Amino acid sequence: MQCRRRHCYARIAGLLAFLGCVVLILSVQHIWLTRLKSHVTTEPTFKKEAETLPSPTRFLANGTLISTQPALRSITGSNRSLAKEENAESILKVEPYKYILNEPDKCRNNETFLVLLIPVEPHNSEARNAIRQTWGNESIAEGIVRIFLMGVKNTTRDFGMRELQQRSLRAESLQHRDMIQQDYIDSYYNLTIKTLMGMHWVSRYCPNAKYVIKADSDMFVNTEYLIEKLLKANIPREMYFTGYLMRGYKPNRNKDSKWYMPPELYPSGSYPTFCSGTGYVFSGDMAKRIYTTSLSIHRLHLEDVYVGLCLSKLNIEPMLPPNEFLFNHWKVSYSSCKYSQLITSHEFRPSELLRYWQHLQKNKGRACKMPKGPINKNANVETLHQAKAVLRSKGK
Ligand SMILES: *[C@@H]1O[C@H](CO)[C@@H](O)[C@H](O)[C@H]1NC(C)=O
Ligand SMILES: *[C@@H]1O[C@H](CO)[C@@H](O)[C@H](O)[C@H]1NC(C)=O
Ligand SMILES: *[C@@H]1O[C@H](CO)[C@@H](O)[C@H](O)[C@H]1NC(C)=O
Ligand SMILES: *[C@@H]1O[C@H](CO)[C@@H](O)[C@H](O)[C@H]1NC(C)=O
Ligand SMILES: *[C@@H]1O[C@H](CO)[C@@H](O)[C@H](O)[C@H]1NC(C)=O
Ligand SMILES: *[C@@H]1O[C@H](CO)[C@@H](O)[C@H](O)[C@H]1NC(C)=O
Repeated sequence: MQCRRRHCYARIAGLLAFLGCVVLILSVQHIWLTRLKSHVTTEPTFKKEAETLPSPTRFLANGTLISTQPALRSITGSNRSLAKEENAESILKVEPYKYILNEPDKCRNNETFLVLLIPVEPHNSEARNAIRQTWGNESIAEGIVRIFLMGVKNTTRDFGMRELQQRSLRAESLQHRDMIQQDYIDSYYNLTIKTLMGMHWVSRYCPNAKYVIKADSDMFVNTEYLIEKLLKANIPREMYFTGYLMRGYKPNRNKDSKWYMPPELYPSGSYPTFCSGTGYVFSGDMAKRIYTTSLSIHRLHLEDVYVGLCLSKLNIEPMLPPNEFLFNHWKVSYSSCKYSQLITSHEFRPSELLRYWQHLQKNKGRACKMPKGPINKNANVETLHQAKAVLRSKGK
């Protein structure tokens, strides 16, 4: 996430971003205030422990946030007008939001091998359609279940608009039967809610799924290659979590950054290892473990960091993928050779996705064959490895 969001961010006007941060900072303060109140009144067990702490708050290694009275005092008087942020960060109750669209029977034959969880904005039917025709095509292999995750668009001012959009979503859902939606506001800061909705759905409606991939809607995923890798005997069937490992990342304390993490919310100086949220893979049992654990961990809007905290509390370390080129949270330059041997690549427009996918389907059989002609004769290319690198750079 840290890197991929940065890509997106670079495209957003600086001013907007700065204002966004200010709003976030202010609201985080507010949330903290509200949370402290509820902590102090509803969790007296934490109070006793907290009194002995030098700092007002602390994030324990197991993910428990504890707080004290002094912290409450120090932030009274902060801006409290941003109550809207509150829900994004509060502890998720079991099924706190209602399903508007659901597919409770998608996994009923108990033979799901791989669930594709794809967070997407409700209005982005273009991305959904591209994914249905490419890496999300359930016909790629038996036992694939594709699920798009959505909240509802914030149309506070225009209920007519909302009704219109919901009607077209219902039609799309009836046609494809691959969309689930709950009644929280669909926004970047609610991405954690969205992911947890997916975890909840898998644990409730698809508990026998062998594996799950959560991948963003602007990703390229080589589903076939992923399945091939997952079928290998050395891949654990349980307690497995992998992806692009983000190790040793520190909370961003620059208030101007989109990834700003207020010390009040996360005092510790480092994050546990987490996997880039662009695309990660886990064994089916992890959905329930993560969801259940999340009930006792305060919400952070950085979704992949948050899932990392859940893993850390579960004492489950994300594993390195079988090789370092499989998961990419940036855009790997295209070649059918490279793309037939990776699992994820980032930043795809729907039209590009379709184009690359079609090219790869036609060329994957021929991918990465050694050349017969010029390159072998080239005196500068001494090793097989170099020859391959040259081929790749030429997009062969
Ligand atoms: C987290 O750790 C603290 C201190 O070690 C302990 O008091 C607390 O019960 C733990 N919380 C959970 C949910 O395991
Ligand atoms: C709180 O923030 C809102 C909007 O950001 C602003 O209109 C209001 O004046 C602020 N209130 C205080 C007390 O700072
Ligand atoms: C699926 O599994 C559940 C529990 O393991 C079982 O109760 C149910 O009968 C199974 N359904 C089918 C269609 O096999
Ligand atoms: C999915 O793949 C199958 C088999 O290759 C193909 O017939 C079908 O048209 C594809 N579905 C979509 C929506 O493209
Ligand atoms: C939703 O939109 C309304 C009106 O535009 C705005 O006041 C409110 O803050 C928005 N809520 C969220 C969570 O973005
Ligand atoms: C997240 O969703 C909840 C429930 O709809 C809403 O109250 C809250 O304002 C949303 N938060 C953000 C930051 O959009």
